[in-house]
Amino acid sequence: MAQEIVESGINNSFKILDLNSVRDRIDLWQEHLPNVQMHYAVKTNSDVKIVKAIYDKGQKFDCASSAEIQKVIDLGASPEDIIYANPIKGKKHIEFAKNHGVKIMTFDSREEVEKIHQIYPEAELILRIAVTNTDAPYPMGNKFGAPADLWNDILDTCQNLNMKVRGVSFHVGSGGCSFEAYKSCLIDTEKVFKMIRQRNMPELDIVDIGGGFSMSATNPVNNFTQVAPKVANYLDNVFPGKNNKQVSVLGEPGRQISQDTTSMITQIFHVKEQGENRHYYVNNGVYHGFGSQVYDREFFLGQPLLLEAELKKRIAQE
Ligand SMILES: Cc1ncc(COP(=O)(O)O)c(C=O)c1O
Repeated sequence: MAQEIVESGINNSFKILDLNSVRDRIDLWQEHLPNVQMHYAVKTNSDVKIVKAIYDKGQKFDCASSAEIQKVIDLGASPEDIIYANPIKGKKHIEFAKNHGVKIMTFDSREEVEKIHQIYPEAELILRIAVTNTDAPYPMGNKFGAPADLWNDILDTCQNLNMKVRGVSFHVGSGGCSFEAYKSCLIDTEKVFKMIRQRNMPELDIVDIGGGFSMSATNPVNNFTQVAPKVANYLDNVFPGKNNKQVSVLGEPGRQISQDTTSMITQIFHVKEQGENRHYYVNNGVYHGFGSQVYDREFFLGQPLLLEAELKKRIAQE
């Protein structure tokens, strides 16, 4: 299809989205993690066509902002199908969640509980814990997640403010990591469950295993199809998910669903020889399509759509 469009003479950069591969990936998630309810991380690709494909397949959402919440609600999603999975939220965004009935949200600090309490005391909280042991190429530990030595203090605040804590979440980091990273986080999750029991707080009922799965992991043994069955097996023993009336297990896949589902077509409009190097100039850039190459070190596999002779002719005409 891309070739036909390019041959028709269009020079602008554009993208082609393969919605069937999005649908196939949802099926793959259900095949490998049947007891883990998907909440697609909208931020990883918020194209309305992807979000709608996920909604049409009956899946749920992880939103990181009021704009994302609005987008999925506009498609018809119910507020109960959304978790507001940004541990640090602006006040206006919390108000927005409140006004739209989105109750479940993550947090990772005493200050955030205090803020949520002021605006939305009926909110239900998921404590995002820090990840200390991961081999993910892009860990998120520095930015988000409560370290173990703060759990007591944070839970004290929740208890004092009478905020309802529903569960625990983590994010192992993006780019694909080993089962051991998930296992280590699940061991920490169990510790929080235990602490809650010891404090006589109401029993937790949500385990959120976050995102992190990849279909093209930097290290291929860490691909989704290799790691997810081990995670599923471990979860079935410690938190039996959908089969267990006490605890719901959910996950927030982003890249596992949206990575590699879009092809970007760009035109090489200039070639410059400099010493031993040849520089290609394309009509797209870091702020439109190549950001993930710089920030996630994603590898873009290029494929020419026009023959060299045709390319040279077009360049000469410009
Ligand atoms: C809270 C949260 N959940 C899920 C995701 C999705 O992560 P991934 O694309 O690695 O699955 C991200 C990051 O993009 C995130 O910050």
